[in-house]
Amino acid sequence: MRVFVAGGTGFVGPHLIREFLAEGYEVKALVRHPDRIARLPEGAEPVSGDPLKPGPWQEICASSQIVVNLVGANIFSRWTPAYKRLIRETRVYATRQIVSCLGKGAVLLNASAVGFYGADRGEEEVTESSGPGNDFLARVCQEWEREALAGERRGARVCLMRFGIVLGPDGGALKKMLLPFKLGLGGPLGSGKQWFPWIHIKDLCRAAVFLAQKETLAGPFNFVAPGIVRQKEFVKALGRVLRRPAILPVPAFVLRLVFGELADLFLGGVKARPARLLEAGFRFQFPEIESALEDLLRGRRF
Ligand SMILES: NC(=O)c1ccc[n+]([C@@H]2O[C@H](COP(=O)([O-])OP(=O)(O)OC[C@H]3O[C@@H](n4cnc5c(N)ncnc54)[C@H](OP(=O)(O)O)[C@@H]3O)[C@@H](O)[C@H]2O)c1
Repeated sequence: MRVFVAGGTGFVGPHLIREFLAEGYEVKALVRHPDRIARLPEGAEPVSGDPLKPGPWQEICASSQIVVNLVGANIFSRWTPAYKRLIRETRVYATRQIVSCLGKGAVLLNASAVGFYGADRGEEEVTESSGPGNDFLARVCQEWEREALAGERRGARVCLMRFGIVLGPDGGALKKMLLPFKLGLGGPLGSGKQWFPWIHIKDLCRAAVFLAQKETLAGPFNFVAPGIVRQKEFVKALGRVLRRPAILPVPAFVLRLVFGELADLFLGGVKARPARLLEAGFRFQFPEIESALEDLLRGRRF
């Protein structure tokens, strides 16, 4: 069976490609710059093209039984009006191009985010049946998911993977947090009371393959660990695993000064539960934060 991956040259993609290859699938991955080919794991075949534009890559996408869409400009940059446009357009336009060539009977595994529910839902427990938020990222996620769901009209099965904060050893949020901890400057962001919906990269990959293989599953799925913690508990666990202090709080105003509007994402939180994955029988290998961090940071004490 052939898997076609768009957006596979970033942080999540190579892990997911490795998982599909290990399961015996043939994997073709879209690459927009030749220098990004090196990001692909051995065994994946590069296909050149731009996911935002039509091209010969769409024939390969059309002949694939499993299509994975991870395309999107990274959100960790200052949100100028032009950058916000890029965040939206890379997701909406790439998804439109991918959906336009989906084959009948294919499954589309489309990235989205728990940001769908809004940056801050306070103490509310959020599942896939909860309504959307109304901030910038929540609106982008809604539009992104609508584009993906149009695949159903082409006879495809569409799964929306609402990722929480993906924890991996070689990128994403965890990599960014390691330097301050190394310098002994780790600590909670703002009050630290906000919920921190995280997922181990290994469970993300296993859950994506699970959805690909379970032909009855479709619609939204929260990709978050059942053992959700508050941000200050996450930071404490990280300090324990690294054996570094985690006591220096970063005040909210400093975050706002440095990151502008993006700071709301660090200061708010969503208490998301992976209700539909659990109902479907998916078993998390890393449901709790401490063992997840132990696994991810093994051998990385300073
Ligand atoms: N990582 C997380 O914690 C997290 C959480 C929630 C949701 N998500 C979503 O999950 C998806 C994958 O996440 P990730 O962390 O792997 O993201 P990433 O490392 O930023 O990679 C994103 C991918 O999108 C491609 N891309 C970026 N800008 C593009 C553009 N202008 N035109 C075409 N392609 C472009 C990149 O291609 P190049 O390699 O060529 O730049 C890369 O393959 C993203 O859509 C992200 O929003 C991630």
